[in-house]
Amino acid sequence: MPVNLVIGSQWGDEGKGKMIDFLSRSSDFVVRFNGGNNAGHTIINRYGKFALHLIPSGIFNKNTKTIIANGVVLDLAVLLEEIKSLEKSNVKLKNRLFISSRCHVIMPYHKLLDKLYEQHKSKGKTGTTGRGIGPVFADKVSYNGIRLCDFEDKKVFMEKLAVQLSIKNKILKALGEKELLKKEVEKEYLDMYKKIEPFVCDSYELLKNAIEQKKQILLEGAQGVFLDNDWGTYPFVTASTVLSGGVVSGTGIPFKKIDNVIGIVKAYTTRVGQGPFPSELFDKDGEKLQSDGAEFGATTGRKRRCGWFDAELIRFAADINSFSKIAVTKLDVLDNFDKIKICIGYELSGKKVNYYNGDANFLKKVKCVYKTLPGWKTKTVGIKKFQNLPKEAREYLKEIERLVGVKIKYISNGQKTDEIIKI
Ligand code: GDP
Ligand code: IMO
Ligand code: MG
Repeated sequence: MPVNLVIGSQWGDEGKGKMIDFLSRSSDFVVRFNGGNNAGHTIINRYGKFALHLIPSGIFNKNTKTIIANGVVLDLAVLLEEIKSLEKSNVKLKNRLFISSRCHVIMPYHKLLDKLYEQHKSKGKTGTTGRGIGPVFADKVSYNGIRLCDFEDKKVFMEKLAVQLSIKNKILKALGEKELLKKEVEKEYLDMYKKIEPFVCDSYELLKNAIEQKKQILLEGAQGVFLDNDWGTYPFVTASTVLSGGVVSGTGIPFKKIDNVIGIVKAYTTRVGQGPFPSELFDKDGEKLQSDGAEFGATTGRKRRCGWFDAELIRFAADINSFSKIAVTKLDVLDNFDKIKICIGYELSGKKVNYYNGDANFLKKVKCVYKTLPGWKTKTVGIKKFQNLPKEAREYLKEIERLVGVKIKYISNGQKTDEIIKI
């Protein structure tokens, strides 16, 4: 199957980075198509430990080329830092990293506005990563963005920056922030662009040719379904399209060319930031998931909220993305539980309801209906075959498969890329 798409099925951090590193071994191209450096994709392999925010997680496989396609928003400083850190670890980037000239650039005022919105929303804040994501996407859809292609002609960039600063500085000043100095921003960004320029390309043509040549393409989704701007728990979401449909606008690949959609599903549920979370735990089990799963955000270091596996969410994710198969990650984190619960559906005032029946306020009120399964109390790290997993673990996975209605193809049972069971 030449074009495979990986989608996070919960609130992000499902272990997409590790799965992409694994799957990229049979891919000619790995492509990011959405989000920005709000993403943090952790990879632990022979090169070391990395949390990639922008560069696709297939970069460690030397036969794979990586593309940051037009749907991604870029913080140039973060990108340069990432390039530096990979090169220091002997990962070659020349002819292996391509960045679309259509990518929008996160400017300093985007980060300031992100912070100001959060401060002013106070208790109602989203709990963003503070990377300027909402404001840069707002500028994109309101025709006020600055793209990499604008830097090609210094004059064009300077003119666009001048217009934006004339507006943004007024807003910043009114909200008590210092104004940004045009000269300083201009110099800093032109200097950074110079260093990035060798990687800038027309990613559409690259991908069009790759598809015509039947190359293996792996599309690396960022974030997770319930952070999607339309179908997530708005306003506790992110700014981009997280769903499979985001590939079309984010890369230019026609939807009919996508052969397989792989949903990445954590064996339990986590969320960073604010917003409803029906199966969230506030007890010892929740603390245990957080500590055994080392659940800290890869981008902000914030503690992740933890809860039981929520089958209602994954059914929705599977339907809306048309999952071909799923990968269940972090199974080993459940190794030490006496009993494990699965949320099999929601109830509101004694009636069965679905995720899609309401908004974030509705979701705050729904109650999970749980099914309890026995734990396996055995270490699963290192197991390579499904039949060698403890019986209770196999039953837990079969129950997930039954409740979600999609076959499990991969089980991740450890942090390292090789710690995977393929069914
Ligand atoms: P992503 O954003 O989906 O790429 O996920 P993150 O990297 O933000 O978070 C996943 C975390 O779980 C990282 O710390 C990974 O190293 C870790 N991880 C991934 N798969 C497994 C697994 O199967 N078992 C364990 N114990 N950790 C895992
Ligand atoms: P990966 O790709 C987890 C969350 C933030 C916040 C909301 C909006 O690593 O799975 P933003 O900065 O995007 O405006 O924040 O979205 N968020 C993520 N949570 N994993 C991510 O990416 C996330 N990207 C954004 O925590 O709740
Ligand atoms: Mg992450």
